[in-house]
Amino acid sequence: MANLLATKPFSVLKNEAGEEGEHTLTRSLGALNLITLGIGAIIGTGIFVLIGQAAAINAGPAIALSFVVAGITCAFAGLCYAEFASIIPIAGSAYTYGYATLGEFVAWIIGWDLVLEYAFGAATVASGWSGYFMSLLQQLGFTPSPALARFTAIYGETIYLVHGRWLPVTALPPGTGTAALPHVTGLFNVVAFLIITIVTSILVIGIKESANLNSFIVIVKLGIVGVFIVIGGLFLLHHPQFTARNWHPFIPPNTGPEHYGISGIAAGAASVFFAYIGFDAVSTAAQEAKNPSRDMPIGILGSLVVCTFLYIIVSLILTGLVDYRTLNVAEPVAIGIDVTGVAWGSLLVKVGAVFGLFTVMLVMLLGQSRIFYSMSKDGLLPQWASAIHPRFRTPWLSTIVVGTVVAFLPALLPIDKLSKLVNMGTLLAFTIVSAGVWILRIRQPDLQRPFKTPLVPLVPILSILSAFYLMYNLPLLTWEVVGIWLVIGFVIYFRYSVKHSKVQHMPTERTSGYS
Ligand code: ALA
Repeated sequence: MANLLATKPFSVLKNEAGEEGEHTLTRSLGALNLITLGIGAIIGTGIFVLIGQAAAINAGPAIALSFVVAGITCAFAGLCYAEFASIIPIAGSAYTYGYATLGEFVAWIIGWDLVLEYAFGAATVASGWSGYFMSLLQQLGFTPSPALARFTAIYGETIYLVHGRWLPVTALPPGTGTAALPHVTGLFNVVAFLIITIVTSILVIGIKESANLNSFIVIVKLGIVGVFIVIGGLFLLHHPQFTARNWHPFIPPNTGPEHYGISGIAAGAASVFFAYIGFDAVSTAAQEAKNPSRDMPIGILGSLVVCTFLYIIVSLILTGLVDYRTLNVAEPVAIGIDVTGVAWGSLLVKVGAVFGLFTVMLVMLLGQSRIFYSMSKDGLLPQWASAIHPRFRTPWLSTIVVGTVVAFLPALLPIDKLSKLVNMGTLLAFTIVSAGVWILRIRQPDLQRPFKTPLVPLVPILSILSAFYLMYNLPLLTWEVVGIWLVIGFVIYFRYSVKHSKVQHMPTERTSGYS
């Protein structure tokens, strides 16, 4: 009979964390690398794309408040992640924390659930990336023929040709009649498919190269956000009539469930929560950090603080520049900068987004393959998933398999559905990690904790409650799909993992005593 509560002993985790040699990952990342890794994962589709839809449909200018709500949730969870990451500096993130504290079954649920965060997250970003990329190409004068255009949209989506640009109905100028416009129905988003394939190839070649590339692109990305803030902010200071018009009312009156008003702010928060995802990806690189105990918390909290600050400013400026009702487009930030009349602005934003979203995919797919690596090492997934390439020293097989599957998702599914699934999966992981911090404080009060979550159990409780609040504000369909996903996970666990688990085959006193 399997022991679902079997935990992975700390001694084993510590040994694994300290392992060096040919078949392990290289320790090459310092504190700054980790912060940039975090920012690389965090700033992306959320602020460049999803902000527009959430402002237009849910919150209006009060989307800035939605960012505050989502940011607070992440801060609580970030404090919990930081404690765990400092105690258990090993690849695998929340999955590993769960294994050490809450038992194998919960660990499996988290690991399986994190697929929603990382793999589906990369897919969501690829979808946003393709929107900016196509917009950039069309701005540069390349308009695909109708036959080609069908391969730039997901299956079943109708896009219309307006002034040399293919646009979905939501992005058409208000009042545009669609009947007379040339249009095609999408088949398969090849652009999104190809970008995931490229990211996967880079990851197979190696973490060192990937981290260096990441640092460079993060600088570009922060630069673009900075340019938007400066150009947009100065414009608004000189043209107060824009904010006078666009920010009033700041919280538009409620027009139905999730449409404006307080429920709109909450739904907006559940949606733009996506913009914060990624700080926990830092923890998946713990095994590649030079000094994980000190640097992991710095990486997680540092990147979170920087991004929260930027998001609030960007959303205020964007809704000041543009009427929120017109923001439901593929490239809202570029539309925002267009208003300022700075001709090169939108080109710059699009180029920046194209590079910036790239790093997000990189970190998310990196996180996903590392989690499968850990699960496979533990025997919960087949051995090939932890095979390290002899020359590149990366988990190449799991990277390729994950990348191939992920490539199909944005090619076929809409961005808003994908992003909400990701949010649900991530929030679920937050609740489990937060509970884990609290439980571990009770079970192992004397454990050495290089970073301590303040005010336990208050912070973990607030983290759980705020995560549930956001989950509650996600659509029913999201709950249903995540439910089905978990059931599939249970089947795999009981059919395969339980039988192959290494922890299940350790002496009982080792796996239940938190040794
Ligand atoms: N936070 C990341 C993004 O917004 C996932 O793209």
